[in-house]
Amino acid sequence: MHDLDATLQRIAAAPDPAALDAERVAALGKSGWVTALLKTLGQMSPDERQVKGPEIQGQRARIADAIEQRKAELDAAELERKLATERLDLTLPAADTPMGSVHPVSQVMDELAEIFADLGFAVAEGPEIESDWYNFTALNMPETHPARAMHDTFYVAPRDGVEGTFVLRTHTSPVQIRAMQQLGAPLRVIAPGRVYRSDSDATHTPMFHQVEGLVVDKGITMAHLKWTLETFLKAFFERDDIAIRLRPSYFPFTEPSAEVDVGWSMENGRRVVGGSEGWMEVLGSGMVQPRVLAAAGLDPDEWQGFAFGTGIDRLAMLKYGMNDLRQFFDGDLRWLKHYGFSALAVPTLSAGVGA
Ligand code: DAH
Repeated sequence: MHDLDATLQRIAAAPDPAALDAERVAALGKSGWVTALLKTLGQMSPDERQVKGPEIQGQRARIADAIEQRKAELDAAELERKLATERLDLTLPAADTPMGSVHPVSQVMDELAEIFADLGFAVAEGPEIESDWYNFTALNMPETHPARAMHDTFYVAPRDGVEGTFVLRTHTSPVQIRAMQQLGAPLRVIAPGRVYRSDSDATHTPMFHQVEGLVVDKGITMAHLKWTLETFLKAFFERDDIAIRLRPSYFPFTEPSAEVDVGWSMENGRRVVGGSEGWMEVLGSGMVQPRVLAAAGLDPDEWQGFAFGTGIDRLAMLKYGMNDLRQFFDGDLRWLKHYGFSALAVPTLSAGVGA
């Protein structure tokens, strides 16, 4: 004779999932005793069935509930056991050379952050989908400004419930506005990040990287700009013979504006940065246009600033000698192995930012 209480006790005491399943089979399986009882219902008279039916069904339900409860207990205990035993010691040194490598763009971004941190600059960020106001208007490029046409802008399709025009930011300059709004003045930031323009050939890709620099303070002059850029380029290219030349230029967000050339020379048949056999353009820069300060909520009579911007991919190519920008974004493992950097070699000023 099978006894419900004994079955329930054995279920509650089942030491492991296999023992629990054996109890389930013995009671509720095809030849289980509850199943056998259920089969007897067919031969009963209706009156008898009315009494016995709910009784047997009730037993079945209590057993099923008990099995479920014990299963949950066993599962929880198993999880506890795993958590307690399957530990990974993350403080252990990496035994083998780590797989993968740091992309030159990430490497250069780290180098920039390191160099400018030493000069008191923080790193600022902004969204890649940017409003037309931040990307253009606040930077002294109103809707009718001809410079807007120079940017080959990707416009974002309007979305229901979202007011205004949005673009994929065409430069990192809008982060200037965001940084001034968020942090106020005085201010020293760089803003590295992705930018987008509808342009594609060996030296242009639709997505590329820029870094923006912005200093706002009292009594800031073009001399501060020149010293900062010279100091940066010397640290970045790790050479003291860096010569720079500022050429008058035009950007809507700076006045006056200057394009910055760096001197190059031939070494082993290769053109390298340093010396002054020739000049190549590396940066755009200038004194922040008073209207830009005002758009960001600062009083231009009180504050002055300088700003600069340049392409990170281009800096990487100049420093590390790649010549086709498109390969940066091909994801070719052979290229990444060749030009990538060790994840363990963090750029520092003392050990050299050149990795
Ligand atoms: N935003 C410019 C571009 O994408 C680069 C630039 C030029 C940034 C001059 C600046 C600047 O901050 O002062 O071509």
